[in-house]
Amino acid sequence: MQNINPTTTEAWAALETHKDAQSAVTIQQLFANEPNRFKDYSLTFNDEILVDFSKNNITQETLALLRQLANECALPAAMSAMFNGEKINRTENRAVLHTALRNRSNRPVLVDGVDVMPEVNAVLAKMKSFCERVISGEWKGYTGKAITDVINIGIGGSDLGPYMVTEALRPYKNHLTMHFVSNVDGTHIAETLKKVNPETTLILVASKTFTTQETMTNAMSARDWFLASAKDEAHVAKHFAALSTNAAEVAKFGIDTANMFEFWDWVGGRYSLWSAIGLSIALSIGFENFEQLLSGAHAMDKHFLSTPIEQNIPTTLALVGLWNTNFLGAQTEAILPYDQYLHRFAAYFQQGNMESNGKYVGRDGEVVNYQTGPIIWGEPGTNGQHAFYQLIHQGTTLIPCDFIAPAQSHNPIGDHHSKLLSNFFAQTEALAFGKTKEEVEAEFVAAGKSLDEVKDIVPFKVFEGNKPTNSILLQKITPFSLGALIAMYEHKIFVQGVIFNIYSFDQWGVELGKQLANRILPELHDDQQVNSHDSSTNGLINQFKLWR
Ligand code: F6P
Repeated sequence: MQNINPTTTEAWAALETHKDAQSAVTIQQLFANEPNRFKDYSLTFNDEILVDFSKNNITQETLALLRQLANECALPAAMSAMFNGEKINRTENRAVLHTALRNRSNRPVLVDGVDVMPEVNAVLAKMKSFCERVISGEWKGYTGKAITDVINIGIGGSDLGPYMVTEALRPYKNHLTMHFVSNVDGTHIAETLKKVNPETTLILVASKTFTTQETMTNAMSARDWFLASAKDEAHVAKHFAALSTNAAEVAKFGIDTANMFEFWDWVGGRYSLWSAIGLSIALSIGFENFEQLLSGAHAMDKHFLSTPIEQNIPTTLALVGLWNTNFLGAQTEAILPYDQYLHRFAAYFQQGNMESNGKYVGRDGEVVNYQTGPIIWGEPGTNGQHAFYQLIHQGTTLIPCDFIAPAQSHNPIGDHHSKLLSNFFAQTEALAFGKTKEEVEAEFVAAGKSLDEVKDIVPFKVFEGNKPTNSILLQKITPFSLGALIAMYEHKIFVQGVIFNIYSFDQWGVELGKQLANRILPELHDDQQVNSHDSSTNGLINQFKLWR
């Protein structure tokens, strides 16, 4: 990976100048000036996903400068470095190859001179046969009964991806009931175990490192719960499987390595749903559908690698996002799926984006002098409309939003879907075009009020508009289209990380809290006063000890 501070490029300087001119223009005016704006500022993937980025404060000049920025920041070289297994995760000395996990073409991908594809395919074959045995009922629990429930115990990337996808693809579900336990709060495992029977439950311990405190604690409690019924450790093999890179720790935990589904250090946790970590997905929707998910992602990988920058969807979204963040001053981005099945999509990309690009040190080891990754959040529409959209419409913070919706519903009941989509279309229209003082006044007049009577109220009803949005319309949420959609966002994050000149694939920022928690934990084991910390931390710990 080259080391280029983006602010030193010619494009960045040109974009700074361009921003001043562009800030004087509104999205409303851009639409008035460009009759073909929708056509000129939207892209389609595979006749399945339409990405309309026209409702942003951009012109062709903006896009040209942003593309120049990407090229000056050596984006093409970074793309080929990632796809070809170079160790672009330098601070951990690892390749970044989630794309190899879904490399349906089987093109050899070398890490340290060794093709990883045979190993990838071997694990996929093992997952396939395991799924078939569990789903068909051939796999029996310790009393000879078939499996009815699967609990995935994992956290972060070992939870968010599998949970998000199994929820998103519920229409493709089989009879197995899926459960996800992540939080070390005992409530999470306790409430889940209340719902299941140890004789018919399969527990997947999902952890790349197999050392994560939350996951190992939950896994131990699940094991105790299981053995309280099964009584014999020999039965563990029928009810526990491990999804991990760490065979030694898996064996130490007592899970037979025959029940281990392996992946590799070149798979980042937040990019791991395509690996063995996706076993819960494959169990939930069947292996063929899981393969479709991989195929959709692979198709997006091919698009990303081979499509010129002008038509490249992930790159365009990354550049438009970067324009909003680094030039128009947005600090956040909302992801708003108009699809109840996608209710964990924003949470998933909260980790995907913020753990990847939440970095303040550049690849040169220096503190950056520009904003890196935005704050990501969101909820499904229309719920959000009745909660936080007020601030997006009339607040003082610029919040670019991605609106995502399927054209076809899996549940076409009455006119629900038309109502849902009418809101989807209305929101981006309202955000871009707003409502002027004159329009508000005209509405009052039409309702029989005099302007004098309402003049104090008018300012509160004005919408400035000019709020940037992307609209992402899918034909339907299928395993294939969802795979493509996820990969699209992954590559958007990658492109931004390349331009931000940061390392997107490490996550050192989560370590300090873990270290301190490990130091504090033994201090909670007795009732002694603690005074080894600052006065606030001491005070809180001591009050906890009094109240517990
Ligand atoms: O602490 C952060 C993190 O390492 C994430 O990056 C990761 O997805 C999560 O913890 C879980 O890690 P593991 O899969 O090793 O249990």
